[in-house]
Amino acid sequence: MTSNTPVKKVPIHLQSSQNRLLIKNGKVVNADKIADLDIYIENGVIQQLGRNLIVPGGVRIIDAGGCYVIPGGIDPHTHFELELMGATTVDDFYHGTKAAVAGGTTTIIDFALPRRGQSLLDTYKNWRQKADEKVCCDYALHMGITWWSEQVQQEMAELCEKHGINSFKAFMAYKGLYQLSDSELYDAFQTVRNLGAVAMVHAENGDIIAKNTEKLLSAGIKGPEGHQLSRPEEVEAEAVTRACTIANQVDCPLYVVHIMSKSAGDAMAYKRKELMKKGKHCTLYGETLAAAIGTHGNRIPCTWHDQAAHVLSPPLRPDETTPNHLLTLLNENALQCTGSDNCTFNKNQKELGKDSFTDIPNGVNGVQDRLSVIWEKGVVPGILSPEKFVAVTSTNAAKIFNLYPRKGVIAEGSDADVVVWNYKAKRTISAKTHAHACDYNIFEGLECHGVPEFVIVGGRVCVDEGNLRVAQGHGNFLPTPINPPFVYEGQTPEVEVDHKENHQVIEEIREQLHGLTPN
Ligand code: URP
Ligand code: ZN
Ligand code: ZN
Ligand code: ZN
Repeated sequence: MTSNTPVKKVPIHLQSSQNRLLIKNGKVVNADKIADLDIYIENGVIQQLGRNLIVPGGVRIIDAGGCYVIPGGIDPHTHFELELMGATTVDDFYHGTKAAVAGGTTTIIDFALPRRGQSLLDTYKNWRQKADEKVCCDYALHMGITWWSEQVQQEMAELCEKHGINSFKAFMAYKGLYQLSDSELYDAFQTVRNLGAVAMVHAENGDIIAKNTEKLLSAGIKGPEGHQLSRPEEVEAEAVTRACTIANQVDCPLYVVHIMSKSAGDAMAYKRKELMKKGKHCTLYGETLAAAIGTHGNRIPCTWHDQAAHVLSPPLRPDETTPNHLLTLLNENALQCTGSDNCTFNKNQKELGKDSFTDIPNGVNGVQDRLSVIWEKGVVPGILSPEKFVAVTSTNAAKIFNLYPRKGVIAEGSDADVVVWNYKAKRTISAKTHAHACDYNIFEGLECHGVPEFVIVGGRVCVDEGNLRVAQGHGNFLPTPINPPFVYEGQTPEVEVDHKENHQVIEEIREQLHGLTPN
């Protein structure tokens, strides 16, 4: 395998009018603007954009009147079929990508995580084996730096040069399992920098968490509430600051995953501002999660199973103002991306931790509902514009991980990953109806405006008037080349949208939504 972009195979039986689509009458939303455009798709690629397009006969026409048409979501953070804390996530690459597509996400980036001492190349091969036959949409991989040695360093180079991996996640937590010391982080970031790749980090202070955990357990606190108590906000914020500081020493681009708290988000904003004040092109990036926006850690009353279902690291904060604060940071470009960290365990697997919170497998759902949650909490109240929504759910991730402009934009020549987003329609999230393999949903009961009515994945209609029709194995592995221009050549993020115009659009949406809401 090489990092050359694979040519899309179009089977003969698909080279017909079925393979040609015209999406008409919609408003196309990209990260920089909204425009009235029709989209002509053939052979899995966007061929033409405009009104009154001249297209061949026998084309399937999809009427997107009254809807937005957005680039398919890119979820830069999933864990499908991952063995973690004695259990394997129930969403494998089939169920996980099926759920993704159901919610309007058409590309996922999963983490290949080696065990301590395990070869990174073997891990990469293992992940390709797990994923290639099963994926319903395209996928790329990040590699975990879960231990540090000469071998790891060499294998990182080989992964970049031959296997299309350009991002590496290190851990400051999970002491004894994945955690690296500051000195190892320094070396790892230096290696990433030398390779022209992007470092990623799980930012929590693992040493402090271990100390707090000992104290809590000896005080008899063993229930799920102990998880949050062992890792308060400042333990996250401190690690964010430290990770950025270490990355700055070696001039390494750094993407901080799953920022879950106000103070950790503010720490990120501060470190970015510091660099920009020095006149530097800022290559510190932050991601928050659908979980952090769509729910919080202050849900009472709450059963053991409900609490356990919400256990992830860093934890949900017992502060109901967290979601809006994180959304504001996204709007200000202090944070750039939203992921799901989809890492689902069933109730019986969560029960591994019934005697101690330290044994509850960490992780929640989110790959299906991420777009709906960000729209409902961000766009509906007017915190994010539709363009910013596209930036933080798709475009920015494509730019940072070098998938742009093949992904993350509706443009001629881009992959035909397109969602017809009916922002007037509503749905209620529930485990009873979701496409995940897991038996709970942390957003249970949340009513969301914004329904993906059509989801087109590589030119194939996979959600058709709301009906999910995925094809196992339809997706391809996406090699991510090193030296993303956005990161290494200082290309600006999205063109800033005009605030006034933007405000008007938001007001229009509000009005339309309001008109549809009883009372
Ligand atoms: O709790 C979480 N986040 N589980 C997945 C592993 C990770 O740290 O991302
Ligand atoms: Zn993590
Ligand atoms: Zn994760
Ligand atoms: Zn305003």
